[in-house]
Amino acid sequence: MAQEKTYKPLSKIPTHVAVIMDGNGRWARARGLPRLAGHRAGTENLRRVITACVEFGIQYLTIYAFSTENWERPQEEVSGLMSIVEDVIDRELDELHRQGVQLRHIGRLERLNPQLQSKVLAAIEKTKNNTRLILAIAFNYGGRDEIACAIRHMISDGVKPEDVTDELIGKYLFTHGIPDPDIIVRTSGEMRISNFLIWQAAYAEWYVTPTLWPDFDKDELYKALVEYAQRERRYGRVLETSECVPDVGKTPAGR
Ligand code: IPE
Ligand code: IPE
Ligand code: MG
Repeated sequence: MAQEKTYKPLSKIPTHVAVIMDGNGRWARARGLPRLAGHRAGTENLRRVITACVEFGIQYLTIYAFSTENWERPQEEVSGLMSIVEDVIDRELDELHRQGVQLRHIGRLERLNPQLQSKVLAAIEKTKNNTRLILAIAFNYGGRDEIACAIRHMISDGVKPEDVTDELIGKYLFTHGIPDPDIIVRTSGEMRISNFLIWQAAYAEWYVTPTLWPDFDKDELYKALVEYAQRERRYGRVLETSECVPDVGKTPAGR
């Protein structure tokens, strides 16, 4: 059997890694395949990256799987993506549960077909007591939609203007209870946020790689972690030494 590769321990590991899984379409086009084949390859890769995150001791992984703008894609691609998600839940749920992964959904379920909605809810229920890795799946997610939703809820709860704080807003977001991402990885080289975690990204470190998502393997994840370990996070302050700011300097977490 091939020897398991060892990775040098890092001086710090992010608590929360968020990933914009981009480049499935280009991966497929480069092989003369339909875009959906790229999405399938991307999903296969997700399984490997989840396992790698568990091995590296990452506690929170958020993945951008479908944006509120992705509905504008051709109908065939949208319905193909929906059925890929359904297949993934059917195929992978038991194994994810066995690995101690807790599933969360961020975004809105309403627009998904009822069968997919109930599968997602059942997967969340089944894994709710797992603690090894919290996997938040951003599906039908948009950062602006999330903020608009939060404002609607605050108003309908009768929140007083003077009580509106950063922390309270965090409690009304889909990500409540999840600390802000420490690093956001975007594959395929695009340097934009595309409506992902626009509130939570305030002090995230960005890492962009030209690698397309289906090719983003454990080695590539490790490279991102190495880069993260070298970053000096300042949170707007001036550092007295070359040391990193201790974690207490983070924006409020654990909302
Ligand atoms: C990302 O890959 C997956 C989704 C948006 C669902 P893309 O489908 O955006 O791939 P490219 O950007 O066209 O290569
Ligand atoms: C962002 O990728 C959304 C997901 C990865 C799910 P897009 O491919 O939709 O983003 P743009 O259109 O390049 O900004
Ligand atoms: Mg894209």
